[in-house]
Amino acid sequence: MYRYFKSHHKPHGGFYLLFMPTYMPVDPELVKYVMQNDFNHFVDRGLYYNEETDPLSAHLFSLDGAKWRNLRVKMTPTFTSGKMKMMFDTLVKCGDQLLTEMNKTVGNTSIDIKDMLARFTTDIIGTVAFGIDCNSLKNPDNEFNRYMKLFFLDGFWDNIIGFITFVTPGIAKKLGLKAVKPPLSKFFMRVVKDTVDYREKNNIHRKDFMHFLLQLKNRGKLDEDGGILKEIGDDKESNLSINELAAQAFVFFLAGYETSSTTMTFCLFELASNPEIQEKLRQEVFEVLKRHDNKLTYDATMEMHYMEKVINETLRKYPPVPGLNRICTKDYKVPGSNIMIKKDTKVWIPVLGLQRDPEFYPDPEKFDPERFSEENKNERHPYTFIPFGEGPRVCIGLRFGMMQTKVGLSILLKNYKFSVSSKTTVPLQLDPRSFIMSTEGGIWLNYTEV
Ligand code: HEM
Repeated sequence: MYRYFKSHHKPHGGFYLLFMPTYMPVDPELVKYVMQNDFNHFVDRGLYYNEETDPLSAHLFSLDGAKWRNLRVKMTPTFTSGKMKMMFDTLVKCGDQLLTEMNKTVGNTSIDIKDMLARFTTDIIGTVAFGIDCNSLKNPDNEFNRYMKLFFLDGFWDNIIGFITFVTPGIAKKLGLKAVKPPLSKFFMRVVKDTVDYREKNNIHRKDFMHFLLQLKNRGKLDEDGGILKEIGDDKESNLSINELAAQAFVFFLAGYETSSTTMTFCLFELASNPEIQEKLRQEVFEVLKRHDNKLTYDATMEMHYMEKVINETLRKYPPVPGLNRICTKDYKVPGSNIMIKKDTKVWIPVLGLQRDPEFYPDPEKFDPERFSEENKNERHPYTFIPFGEGPRVCIGLRFGMMQTKVGLSILLKNYKFSVSSKTTVPLQLDPRSFIMSTEGGIWLNYTEV
């Protein structure tokens, strides 16, 4: 659709998603109006959620209006760089486990790299968001993974329910449909309640998301050095309920594990296809680690500037979320035109279209990290690169996503050299059925010790 409107020299266009009119801004300046300048007209995503019958669905990604705004304000301090630093060691520990698993087959066989990295990010988010060791690197068939798979199952009825909840959230709510299947919901609620009970009974103080969520539940605010039990003077009004806490841990999992493992997967594919870029990045990892006593620390990752460019170029070419949605929450006149967008009209933001547009990125299929040098970045409209979204609804986990991607890549590049296996279909075939960008047949890589 993006290319169609663009080839007709239109700054925006419209189409029907079945019977629903959908507006698509094409000009990055109009994208900026929708996401940032006139955000008050486009606050919501218009997704299904039901706090009463389907509590895990009522998370930050799906909530709307004042409910979303209040929660976003409360949750924002959870993602400061100080909090990221606190969680860093947990990520490195999961990285050690990743090495142990990778070492088992090094030099012998090609691996489905997405599968391996998804297990790595599952272990990370299981530890920091749920406070549990899911051990999916060691044991892929663990209970946590088995239940999570339920979420993504796409049998006939799952598809029908998924379709109704996506297209007509209001009807889904009236029909009492559930986005999170009851066995999965039951499992997650139990895991969260067990962790909460254990930590509260023993006043456990850990440096993870669960700890911050517990502070929000019991004390209504975050306190760097504070515990999880209520203290005199704590704000009671804004406390999270146990269901709200569980829903946020759930969305950290949903939004966090696949986006980051997808980014690492495509990045390693491009590095395997471009050995000189791979080597340049490996040299940067070695040099930075040398300055930090050979220890992977938060500060070390912040000095990996070439890595930042390589990850950004990966996110440009393969944005894990290739299209973003909003819904018009009050009538809107599009600036510079007579077009009026009516309340309740869906809006689709063409991330992939913009990021592979030859006008902004000449030779867009070429993987070239130098597109993200300061000079080159400054020459482009900032809304031609929006892999984390933009405006007040921008990804809240951006820092965490970047951090775990950097940890994974540093560990892998320090230890292994990658090349593309003949089992990978090149050029990559994107899977049109997948919401998160992925390929048909997966990405298989060969790897040897450095
Ligand atoms: C490379 C990794 C990641 C990518 C590419 C990514 C991408 C995105 C995108 C495109 C959005 C929608 C933004 C918009 O509509 O403007 C989003 C929202 C969100 N992401 Fe991420 N994400 C990543 C990692 C994470 C992580 C690690 C977490 C949590 C730990 C997370 C939690 C969320 C949440 C809660 C939202 C909803 C925010 C709101 O509506 O207020 N994401 N993400």
